[in-house]
Amino acid sequence: MGYTILKKEELIPGQTTMMVIEAPQIATKAKPGNFVMLRASEHGERIPLTIADCDREKGTITIVYLVVGKTTAEMNTLKEGGEFVDVCGPLGRPTHIEKSGTVVCVGGGTGIAAMHHIAKGHVEAGNRVIAIIGARSKNLLLFCSELSSFCPEVRIATDDGSEGHKGFVTEVLKDILETEDEVAEVVAIGPVPMMEAVCRVTLPFNVKTTVSLNSIMVDGIGMCGACRCTVGGKTLFACVDGPEFDGHQVDFAELRTRLWQFKKQEEESMELFSK
Ligand code: FES
Repeated sequence: MGYTILKKEELIPGQTTMMVIEAPQIATKAKPGNFVMLRASEHGERIPLTIADCDREKGTITIVYLVVGKTTAEMNTLKEGGEFVDVCGPLGRPTHIEKSGTVVCVGGGTGIAAMHHIAKGHVEAGNRVIAIIGARSKNLLLFCSELSSFCPEVRIATDDGSEGHKGFVTEVLKDILETEDEVAEVVAIGPVPMMEAVCRVTLPFNVKTTVSLNSIMVDGIGMCGACRCTVGGKTLFACVDGPEFDGHQVDFAELRTRLWQFKKQEEESMELFSK
């Protein structure tokens, strides 16, 4: 028995898709920060995606993905009413959420969807959440209304200035850190350069900074070593030790190299799939 897609919506046509999947057992246990491993077809590759939302009563989870390679292109051929062969989860350690005061949640790209779930968790814990979301342009911003529905302070940055601050999320973040009395934590989820830049901004302010690593994963349960990363000089596995880590301790240079290691094979695979 597969996992039925109850809803499919192209958030950014041809680029980013949201799916609501029937997965009652996962929805019961899922917490912000958890991810699932999905397989679109019998012989397909398993890929990790952070849970962007869950509804325990309806027994559903929401995922958001960027159509970037063969597997996500294959996923994108599935329609409403269609099924995933496997959805395994919830996996990974959930986000550590406690009542701590002001938390700034920064999201970029599809990371905004995952950040939205974490921001919701912090609001439910009684924290004041300031959300910062960024994209190249206004039409590439995700989850604005969802975030605004529970978070009164949503700041926006776009590269072209079509919405909010013209520039980067890090400039908005720096301004907040300079003006707010006390920020307990900064959480950043998005492209690696964005998370790295966020850590550079928060370091001089000595603010706890949590990032969610999007390492390549194969099994997602700590057996294969594909997702290994270096944090604080130690080799850790993003799937079981993370995916969230202290951003000031992450070796981002190594992460970047490891993320690109199968680029050629990915391109070949995509070429074959497109034929
Ligand atoms: Fe295999 Fe993490 S994905 S050890």
